[in-house]
Amino acid sequence: CGIVGYIGNRESQPILLEGLKKLEYRGYDSAGIAVFTEQGLEITKTVGRLANLEGRLSDEPLRGTVGIGHTRWATHGKPSDANSHPHADESHKFSVVHNGIIENYLELKEELLQQGHRFVSETDTEVISHLVAVEYDGDIVKAVQRAVGKMRGAFALAVLTEYEPERLVAVRYASPLIIGIGDGEKFIASDIPAILEHTRDIYILNDGEMAVLTRDAVELMTIEGNFIAKDVFHVDWDLITAEKAGFDHFMLKEIYEQPKAYRDTMRGRISEDGRSVVLPELNMTPEILRGINRVHIVACGTAMHAGLVGKTIIEQLARIPVETDVASEYRYRSPIITPDTLVIVVSQSGETADTLAALREAQRCGARVLAITNVVGSSVAREADDVIITLAGPEIAVASTKAYTSQLIAFYLFGLYWAQTLGTKTADEVAHILAAMQSLPEQVEKILAQAETVKAVAEEISKHSNLFFIGRGLDYAVALEGSLKLKEISYIHSEAYAAGELKHGTLALIEDGIPVIALMTQEELYEKTLSNIKEVKARGAHVLGIINEGHEAEAAKSVDHQFAIPRTLTLLTPALSVVPLQLLSYYASLALGHDVDKPRNLAKSVTVE
Ligand code: G6P
Repeated sequence: CGIVGYIGNRESQPILLEGLKKLEYRGYDSAGIAVFTEQGLEITKTVGRLANLEGRLSDEPLRGTVGIGHTRWATHGKPSDANSHPHADESHKFSVVHNGIIENYLELKEELLQQGHRFVSETDTEVISHLVAVEYDGDIVKAVQRAVGKMRGAFALAVLTEYEPERLVAVRYASPLIIGIGDGEKFIASDIPAILEHTRDIYILNDGEMAVLTRDAVELMTIEGNFIAKDVFHVDWDLITAEKAGFDHFMLKEIYEQPKAYRDTMRGRISEDGRSVVLPELNMTPEILRGINRVHIVACGTAMHAGLVGKTIIEQLARIPVETDVASEYRYRSPIITPDTLVIVVSQSGETADTLAALREAQRCGARVLAITNVVGSSVAREADDVIITLAGPEIAVASTKAYTSQLIAFYLFGLYWAQTLGTKTADEVAHILAAMQSLPEQVEKILAQAETVKAVAEEISKHSNLFFIGRGLDYAVALEGSLKLKEISYIHSEAYAAGELKHGTLALIEDGIPVIALMTQEELYEKTLSNIKEVKARGAHVLGIINEGHEAEAAKSVDHQFAIPRTLTLLTPALSVVPLQLLSYYASLALGHDVDKPRNLAKSVTVE
C-alpha cells in the first residue's frame, strides 16, 4: 500500500521509517524495510503496526544509505511476517516492494516451482523477486525490464540488488509511483507525503515508465528501455493536502478513486477473451453452487445497501431467491437456514460485530457463508467459507463510497459466475454484460467530470432540513444509499421511498419547495416514475431527476434539475447512478461546513453490538 525508497548519503532506516509513518493514515497491516548493510542485503519486516517494526529495528538497526520500505495492505495472502514486504529471491540478493496485483502470478509461480524455486510466502510479490533474479545477467535494469515483460496486472515496484548497490530501480504500471529529487540523494514513493519533508521536486511516473536512481541522477525510460525526458513537478501542497492527493477531503478522493477500484476489482476475474468470469478464490465447487436454492445477504449500513442491489443481481442472473437483511435483525429473528442456503455477508472492514455474529449464526445453522469484504485477513474473511475481496484499497472517510461500488462489482461478478455455472444466461449474454461492465470505469470518469453541476444543486439542497429520494426497482435500492449518505454527513433529514409507495403515506409530507431526488434510470419503469414525479410536482416539490442519457429533453418537462448518467445495461445502472448522489451529499456537507470525513457520532467500523 505504501512504498518508500532511498539512495543518498544519510542513514536510510530513519528516512524509510519516517516516510512510512507519513503513509500510516492510508491503513496497512504489516511493514518492513530492506537496506544494504555491511553484511549485504538485510530485511526486517513484521506484521502489525509500524511501532512493532521500529521496536525490532531499535534492537537491531539496519545501517546503510540505500534501502526500500513498504507498508502492506493484504491482497494475496493474509497479513503475516512472511507475507510482509520487502520480499527477496532465494539467494537473498534481490529485494522487491510492490503495490498492486500481478494477475498471472500463479502461472509464473508454477513455472518457477517447476524450475526448482521455493517460496516462503503466499504473495505475488515474492514471485517478482524470483523472476528478477532469474533474468539477471549483470544489469539490474534489463533484468527488471524482462521480468516486467512477463507480468500482467497493475503494479508499482521498487527493486534493489546487492550486486549493484549504487542503483535503485522503480517501475510504474497502473499503480502510482513518484521519484523525489534531492541534492546527492533520491527517493521513491507511492505517495507524495512520504518524501515531502525532504524534497518538493518530483517526477511523476506514468504507466509503463521506469526510473533508475543513483545518488546524483535519475534516468527515466519506458519499460521497453527508451529514454524519456520529463518536467520536474514542484509540489506546493502542505502535508495535509498531500495526504489527500490534492483533494480537500478523503471522501472526495475516494469518490474519484472509484474508476480504479472498479478496474482493480474486475482485474484477473474476467477471462482474457472477455467471455466469462473466473473466481479461483472460491472454495465452493460448481456442484456446491448448483445445490444452493436460496440466498440470504446480510450486512450493515452501506454494505447492506449494496446487498439490496446484490439481491436483484443474483435473482436476475442466477434465478435463485434472495433475501437481504440487516445483520442486527437477522441474527435474532431465527432465520430459516437450511444446508442449501448460501449466506453472503458484505462488510468493508470485515470487523463489524453484528455482521460477524450473523456469519457465525449462519454457520452454526449449517449454511455456507461467502464474504464480500475489502480487508484480507479480517475476522469476516477468516471465518467465512469463501471470500471475494473487493479491491477498493483502504477507505478512510467514514461515509463509504468506493467500498460500496466495489461491492456492487463483486456482486456482478459472482452473479455472472453463478449464471454461467447454472446456464441461466447464455455465454453470449454473459459476454455482453461483461463488456458493459468493462466500460463502467470510463463512464464513472465521465460523471466525475460533471461534478460542478451536482455542486450547484447540493448548495441549494443544503438550505433545506427535509427531503426525499424516490425510485423504483434498482433505483429504489440506490435511493436508500443516496439518502443514507446525505444523512450521514450533511445531517439533513431525508427519506428514501419506493416511488410507487409514496401515495400510501409520504405524499402527505410533500409541500411547497421541498426537494425530491428522483432516480429514473430503470427504462421499463421510467413512465411509472414519471407519473410519481408529477404527483410530487403538483404539490410544489422541487425535483432533481437522475436520468439516463438521451432522456434530457423530455425529462426537462417534468423536473427542475437533471443529471444524466451514461447509458449502460439496466442491471448495471447502480454502479453509475450512485456517483452523483455521493457527490451531492459531499457538496451539501461542505456547504454546511461539516466535518465531511468524520461525521458526528459515527464510526468507520463498529465492532460492538
Ligand atoms: C458503520 C459505518 C458505515 C458502514 C457500516 C458497515 O456504521 O459508519 O459506513 O456501512 O459500519 O461497515 P462494514 O465495514 O461492515 O461494511
